[in-house]
Amino acid sequence: MNPITLLAEVPVPRDLPLSLPLPEGLLKALLVLFFLVHILFVNLTVGGSLLVAAFEFLGFKSKKYDALALELAKTVTVNKSLAVVMGIGPLLCINLVYTSQWYSANALTGHAWLIIIPLITAAFLLAYLHKYTWHRWDSGNAKKLHWAIVIISTVMFLAIPFVFLANVNLMLFPSEWEKVKGFFSSLKIGNVLPRYLHFLLASIALTGLAGAGWFWRENVVKHLDNGMTREELRRLFYRIAAWATGAQFIAGPLLLFTLPSIGVTPLLYKIILPSAALGLVLLLVLLRKSKATDHSLRHGYVAILVFFSIVVLGMGSGRHAYREAALASHQQQIKARSETYQSALLAWNEANPPSEEAEETPEQLFASCAACHAPDTRLVGPPLREIVTLYAGNPDGIVAWSMAPGKNAPTTRPCPP
Ligand code: HEC
Repeated sequence: MNPITLLAEVPVPRDLPLSLPLPEGLLKALLVLFFLVHILFVNLTVGGSLLVAAFEFLGFKSKKYDALALELAKTVTVNKSLAVVMGIGPLLCINLVYTSQWYSANALTGHAWLIIIPLITAAFLLAYLHKYTWHRWDSGNAKKLHWAIVIISTVMFLAIPFVFLANVNLMLFPSEWEKVKGFFSSLKIGNVLPRYLHFLLASIALTGLAGAGWFWRENVVKHLDNGMTREELRRLFYRIAAWATGAQFIAGPLLLFTLPSIGVTPLLYKIILPSAALGLVLLLVLLRKSKATDHSLRHGYVAILVFFSIVVLGMGSGRHAYREAALASHQQQIKARSETYQSALLAWNEANPPSEEAEETPEQLFASCAACHAPDTRLVGPPLREIVTLYAGNPDGIVAWSMAPGKNAPTTRPCPP
């Protein structure tokens, strides 16, 4: 369907007639950049939390995984703090550049949107509780309860990005706004679930990759002290990254094919396909590394990171290209509507110049003073005769006071300007 006809049935607001604090292109570039930094830590929080839950579960059988889960849990609480702090940047940029789309999406999913706050708070507190009770609740039912805590906090950590994602997704499709009645109905827009799956797998892949670096460090491994060598650890985390990356080759195309066609452009394919090809190479490298000899594990980590970053940057740019294309027509309509409004306003102002008659007479003005100032008696304020004596020969002083009253005496109510 032609996007223009689609949007013809869409509520199109007009823009605020204010200029942006930075050039729009710069704000968009910052948005992509800030978002990638934010999502990096979100990925590490979500992926870390999932892996902690999995390792602690394996730990019921083999203690070495329990120790590994604890070391990983320590990184989750740090990453979640960074995720939240780094989330402010993209929020500010998106607010400025996509004001009406962003506002509409938030308003339409309002309740779910607000639930994020208690959800984040509870997930944080549970993550800390989980970390600090590790050695206290370490056997029998207490251990089971301990594991239940990480399950609950993980479910919460999973729910938060889901709400965000539904929001950001809804923002892209003004044509759906009139049909959406709250969060759950916003999930019906085709691609929310594939998009979420894509995000989850990216979280696990990234956490795997981060783990391959973190658990390579001598002091971390020494502290972990669970009988696993750094080579074994690196292979394990490479394997996790490889599996998650491999699964992206199902989730990715699923997402691409469920994307509403409004934002699908040749440019999108030109960005996504080469990135996916690089992703395939990355997958092969990760698979090889997850079976590599101790010696060959020593090299290549940084190169893999760089490689991974390029893939991520490509996917992030593709995502931005989609957003731009999906919203182009809506933004044009907002612009046109704003211009019409501005010129109508200008015409009205010219036709209706402000008239002198509208101003109040001195008598009318004094009526507001009379409530507190009587000729001879003291009401809330001093009597007029007293004021006259006080300001004899200085009428300007009365004006000055009345514009900006001061305070001389303690009074029940001050003199209003
Ligand atoms: C809500 C009551 C209230 C209203 C209404 C009010 N005044 Fe007053 N006015 C006071 C009070 C109380 C003082 C004494 C303030 C002080 O000395 O701290 C005062 C003091 C003054 C003074 C004396 C300032 C001085 O140097 O001591 C002037 C002049 C004055 N008001 C002018 C006005 C004028 C003009 C208006 C109407 C536009 C007005 N007031 C309305 C409460 C009011």
